Amino acid sequence: MSIAITASGQACGAAVTGIDLTEDLSQDQVAEIRSAWLEHHVLAFPDQHMSDDDLERFTLYFGGFGHDPFFDPIEGREHIAAIQRKANETSPLFAENWHSDWSFQEHPPAGTCLRAIDIPPIGGDTLFANQHASLDAMPSEMRAKLEGKIAIHSAQLAYAPDGTYGDKDEERSMAIRPDESARATQLHPLVRNHPETHRPGLFSCLGYIIGFEGMTQQEALPLLTELYAWQSRDEFVYRHKWEPDMLLMWDNRSVLHCATGGYEGHDRLLHRTTISAFGH
Ligand code: SIN
Repeated sequence: MSIAITASGQACGAAVTGIDLTEDLSQDQVAEIRSAWLEHHVLAFPDQHMSDDDLERFTLYFGGFGHDPFFDPIEGREHIAAIQRKANETSPLFAENWHSDWSFQEHPPAGTCLRAIDIPPIGGDTLFANQHASLDAMPSEMRAKLEGKIAIHSAQLAYAPDGTYGDKDEERSMAIRPDESARATQLHPLVRNHPETHRPGLFSCLGYIIGFEGMTQQEALPLLTELYAWQSRDEFVYRHKWEPDMLLMWDNRSVLHCATGGYEGHDRLLHRTTISAFGH
């Protein structure tokens, strides 16, 4: 069996077939997947009947486990979180805003893996926005305003006790655990080279980015809002359609992602791991 990689034809994303992720992978197979991941930023592996052990083994081929705050892991596992929504759930959709996973950390995870378990018959697509393409196409006037900016990242708007998933967020089936530690801040350059491919791109967006160093909130917010609209333009987006038994991996250093709804009345369940930054 040899690996076949088929590009989505959209701004990023490819399907990978000809591989069985329930088996140990060879070094050559891992190298081929890594190279496709760096090229396409989002890889979908259909028809994989994986267990949580398989998910953990797959994750560790590409780095260590990331550190996942503000979620309880699923029972019996330290590094797997459930991305879950019940058919009758009425709380706001989880992760509906664009983001790069845990960008507020000192060493944010290089990647994320999601294993589909319960997939609704309609809706629930995940969108990805290619942040190399978004920087490449940015008008020079806008780029001049952003180049060299140091972004202030924080989880406070989402995970502080008064945040979106804070104390007032009731009836949610996901095990989200808001905490005061979400108010911590972390600096990262907004425009930066990808640590492996060295391709320039935009890292993260409004939400986890709460300001820019040396700017007032009044100055930074309009700029962040303009940037957010640019980063998520249709021409940079890949719309991922889920199938049961599909594994997805993406590169948080290259893309933003967000969840979509449209599956009211249906359960949705995926198991998630993060891949740590190289050397962390
Ligand atoms: C996530 O942001 O990890 C979840 C994406 C999704 O539910 O589609």
